[in-house]
Amino acid sequence: MHLRVLTPLDTADIDLVAQRMRATLVEVEGEAAGGGMYSMDWLRDRVRWHLDGRAAEVVVITDDDGGVIGHTIYRREAPDGALPFGLISTTYVTPEARRLGAAQRLLARAEDWFRAQGLQMACTWTSSTNTPLIALYGRNGYLEAERGPNGVTGTMMVRLARSLPITSR
Ligand SMILES: CC(C)(COP(=O)(O)OP(=O)(O)OC[C@H]1O[C@@H](n2cnc3c(N)ncnc32)[C@H](O)[C@@H]1OP(=O)(O)O)[C@@H](O)C(=O)NCCC(=O)NCCS
Repeated sequence: MHLRVLTPLDTADIDLVAQRMRATLVEVEGEAAGGGMYSMDWLRDRVRWHLDGRAAEVVVITDDDGGVIGHTIYRREAPDGALPFGLISTTYVTPEARRLGAAQRLLARAEDWFRAQGLQMACTWTSSTNTPLIALYGRNGYLEAERGPNGVTGTMMVRLARSLPITSR
């Protein structure tokens, strides 16, 4: 498996990531709620918004033949009056490539980027019913820090967070 950071020139991969963001919403929220939540144009713009490389990145993971089997998107968040932190906004791995460690590799990549940015906290939001993702983050030291309904769907969401100790390399 190989990780690759997308650039604005990777138009086919940007489309693919947008399609898989939609697939994630359908898988987590169901076809009725997830399928119509955002248009493909909105999702594509959302991917492009994260391509600047300084405050955010979109990373794909490929198999040995170069096929994209998954992606993650993360960014630096700097709320007023609070310490900046790293937010992983989405992760997806194709069903046939699951349980091979792809999401684990993507999570490690996000955390390395956060550390390189001097961020001391990492978090993500997901549905409280998303057992696979919660198990993945749990084994990486993330704890539930907050929960509340998502205004768009009414689904109960959980925020999973961990501190990122500064390591000397
Ligand atoms: C959640 C998801 C990204 C995991 O991807 P993956 O590449 O299969 O995960 P990994 O192989 O890296 O798994 C690492 C560890 O996470 C945990 N884990 C992953 N999937 C799991 C599952 N279905 N059930 C229980 N634990 C799971 C396990 O501890 C696993 O280690 P193990 O395989 O040695 O037991 C994938 O299932 C997915 O794309 N789901 C749909 C999209 C989604 O829900 N995205 C998040 C939206 S916020």
